[in-house]
Amino acid sequence: MVSGVSAFHAELSRTKAVELKISVIGCGYLGAVHAACMAELGHEVIGVDVDRAKIDALEAGHAPFFEPGLPELLASANASGRLRFTTDMSEVADADVHFIAVGTPQKKGEYAADLTYVDAAVTSLLPYLSDGSLVVGKSTVPVGTAARLAALVDTAPADASLAWNPEFLREGFAVKDTLGPDRLVYGVPAGEAGERATAILDSVYEVALARDTPRIVTDFATAELVKVSANAFLATKISFINAMAEIAEATGADVTQLADAIGHDARIGRRFLNSGLGFGGGCLPKDIRAFRARGEELGLGKSLAFLGEVDAINLRRRDRMVELTREALGGSLDGKHVAVLGLAFKPDSDDVRDSPSLDVATRLRAEGAIVVATDPEAIETSRRLHPELDYVESAIEAAAGADAVVVLTEWKQYRELTPADLSGTNGQVILDGRNCLDPKLWRDAGWVYRSLGRP
Ligand code: UDX
Repeated sequence: MVSGVSAFHAELSRTKAVELKISVIGCGYLGAVHAACMAELGHEVIGVDVDRAKIDALEAGHAPFFEPGLPELLASANASGRLRFTTDMSEVADADVHFIAVGTPQKKGEYAADLTYVDAAVTSLLPYLSDGSLVVGKSTVPVGTAARLAALVDTAPADASLAWNPEFLREGFAVKDTLGPDRLVYGVPAGEAGERATAILDSVYEVALARDTPRIVTDFATAELVKVSANAFLATKISFINAMAEIAEATGADVTQLADAIGHDARIGRRFLNSGLGFGGGCLPKDIRAFRARGEELGLGKSLAFLGEVDAINLRRRDRMVELTREALGGSLDGKHVAVLGLAFKPDSDDVRDSPSLDVATRLRAEGAIVVATDPEAIETSRRLHPELDYVESAIEAAAGADAVVVLTEWKQYRELTPADLSGTNGQVILDGRNCLDPKLWRDAGWVYRSLGRP
């Protein structure tokens, strides 16, 4: 079990008073974790998804994706009898609270968010709502969506209402972030309906509130914007340091020392200042694009135009990584054996959605390199998207006979590699796409070490 969860059990028995019947609609990264955590908090939970295979896996206690702590939580919640999964929406009819946790991916060929799944979830829920029940949006949506969905909920046969309660969980820390959030945000309607919604959400999050988690009760628009602006800020912080990496590369400066030095200023802070290949995943890239698209719709394109630069800086890191590899291999990748270490968009995840690492791996191959790739968790998810790449189980296998080793995701096991571990390579060239290795260690052993933003 993840650290903190057992302490949580003890706290739970002290503070737990209200148990609610909860449904969670959408059982992906967000919904599956939310459902398991709500059951852990003592509520009776039913998770719903249209994907039969996902529901079967969750019913059997298997997490359909890699997330530390989730398998243990599913096992204990399933055993307690408080957690069930179904594909049948009618089974949610007796729930007091319905969380909407479906995806809002980027629309094909556009920057805007695709709200098809959110709309379908709420629409199919309408006939099963009971008087006094609360629909709670968790999905990341463009500002204005909650007001529209509240009007939809008003058309239900029962007297139900809607609240917006954005989720800030990070993959890899999803269980920890859900059980112990750093803040709770409730977007509620004005007046009595808002007070009722607030009281219900307070019962849902009673344990977190008992440990003084900050709680912000606000309107729909603010709650929606809190989520997208937080992600926009984080993306901007990463692209800021990656822009500094471009300047550092041209001037012989070291961006990691620069980040350490500016990070000591408490107003800036060192977190999210790791320069390298940039951000990917199922949230930051699509959220900044959807936010920009929403700004345009509102006639406020100028206010969010900077997010276009944030996106462009981020995507340039991938070009630069391919260029650096080409340079290090004498100007051409054709026929060169490149070992790729890391495919997931970040460590402790098997997620390759918009992964900079997988993108670079495929681009190296497109330029003629013989790419042999590995990742501790993301080989299967990568293979589904890119069956043409060669995958092996370990860094040592990938590096055997390689002309260059390229580290693209900073998994702990790659950060801890030593030159002796990779003695089976053909050329002693290592390229650090995440500034996660010690240059001195590799150079002292006779290797060529190059990175993004370090001399
Ligand atoms: C993010 C937000 O952090 C979370 O609050 C929100 O709910 C969902 O989106 P997540 O996508 O899980 O979470 O990943 P995060 O840890 O934020 O990393 C995003 C990307 O930024 C990764 O590709 C990571 O490698 C990259 N990153 C992060 C950097 O390049 N440098 C950093 O300093 C930090």
